[in-house]
Amino acid sequence: MSWADYLDTHQTRFIDELCDFIRIPSVSAKPEHMDDVRTAGQWVVDRLTAAGIENAELFETEGHPVVCADWLHAGADKPTILIYGHFDVQPAEPFDLWSSRPFEPTIKGDRIYGRGATDDKGAMLIPILAAEALLADTGKLPVNVRFFFEGQEEIGSPDLAPFIEANLDRLQADMIFSADGGQWDPKTPQLVLGLKGLTSLEITVNGARGDLHSGMHGGGVANPAMALAQLLASMKSPNGRITIDGFYDDVIDLTEEDRADIARVPWDEAAYLAQTGAPATLGEPGYTTRENLWARPTLEINGLTSGWQGDGTKTVLPAVASAKITCRLVADQNPEKVFDLIAAHVASHCPPGVTAEVTKNPGRADPFLVPAGHNATAIAGQVLEEVYGKAPYMVRAGGSIPVMTTLYNTLDLHGVIFAFGHDDENQHAPDEFFRLSAFRLGQGAYVRLMERLGS
Ligand code: BES
Ligand code: MN
Ligand code: MN
Repeated sequence: MSWADYLDTHQTRFIDELCDFIRIPSVSAKPEHMDDVRTAGQWVVDRLTAAGIENAELFETEGHPVVCADWLHAGADKPTILIYGHFDVQPAEPFDLWSSRPFEPTIKGDRIYGRGATDDKGAMLIPILAAEALLADTGKLPVNVRFFFEGQEEIGSPDLAPFIEANLDRLQADMIFSADGGQWDPKTPQLVLGLKGLTSLEITVNGARGDLHSGMHGGGVANPAMALAQLLASMKSPNGRITIDGFYDDVIDLTEEDRADIARVPWDEAAYLAQTGAPATLGEPGYTTRENLWARPTLEINGLTSGWQGDGTKTVLPAVASAKITCRLVADQNPEKVFDLIAAHVASHCPPGVTAEVTKNPGRADPFLVPAGHNATAIAGQVLEEVYGKAPYMVRAGGSIPVMTTLYNTLDLHGVIFAFGHDDENQHAPDEFFRLSAFRLGQGAYVRLMERLGS
């Protein structure tokens, strides 16, 4: 049976298997799901083995495990590719905003709903199924293939750098393909030429020893919630420019050519506003919205906590106020350096009458800019053009995949995003879904990619 017939014949089983995979609530951020992340890793080991991939094994780290496997019989004259993905998922809360249960996959038409359906369980299963179909069809793969799947991407892959250092032999390859990422839309391919980095922190402002009566003490001592608001307001001007000293120092400016590439990709401001429901766009002045989304760093407040949050009025002067903040970074910014700049800003701008403390939160990623001119990118582009019938858009992504930079820096490996999710599939949000048509299309694309690389 040809690989294409094999894929068609077995698609129902593949979808059932994806359902089993989604049923495992492998939420890496929540300690109570520790065992589920491991169960998902073991599921991946078993699935790789069933596909005919060899040496599939679960490896321990300080935190969640990783899975490595390989099939290395294509011959020394053929390239070795490393395929990456993650089997952990984001928390599914708030549960009540889901139309179906997040860990009970539900199929409606072309869509399979469930946490992790697109990010990244459906997407990471694709290359495994492509390998299975090729092995069933021809008994071999056209290239040497290594698989590297992790259970801690959604918390920033904190333990992967030491794992990679200690297991260089298992990861030796000529190039990486990430099955995490996505395509422009179901009819249009894209090549992702940049990912953003991340730094994450929390600011805590302390005032009095405990909460106070706001009538008896208001006007007598400072209010930490107000001080925090003033501090936060000092970090960004209302027009969107970040006002932390040195924040933009290491940013590689967009060249005229970069800007022209970005401008070639269609942008519909009204559609973007309709999609988000925001009344207007706002970003760093001097850049288009697209440039800000893809290629300029950001500073966002992710959560604010202080004082009375219940119904009605409580006349209290809170003792504490805190803010969770993340910055998305672009090349060549460094997550630790940006943290230090923010800490210095807080120290020098703390309003009178309170103390402010800055602590690190988990979630670090170096920005990733795909080096130009590698033929892995060119070949991926050709395969996409063949499969979709049109040339891919050249894009960058606002999201992060921390390990891509780690692999690039430690193994000196060129990485290409070759993945089949889409931006509208509610990643990290309620009603996450994956398109079954993209699931099947991606399988064929991975087969063609391997064939093309091996010819
Ligand atoms: N798959 C996403 C990243 C992504 C999204 C890449 C869109 C390309 C296009 C990934 O699972 C993710 O969500 N990463 C986190 C990393 C963070 C926790 C360090 C992110 O970007 O928030
Ligand atoms: Mn992902
Ligand atoms: Mn994600």
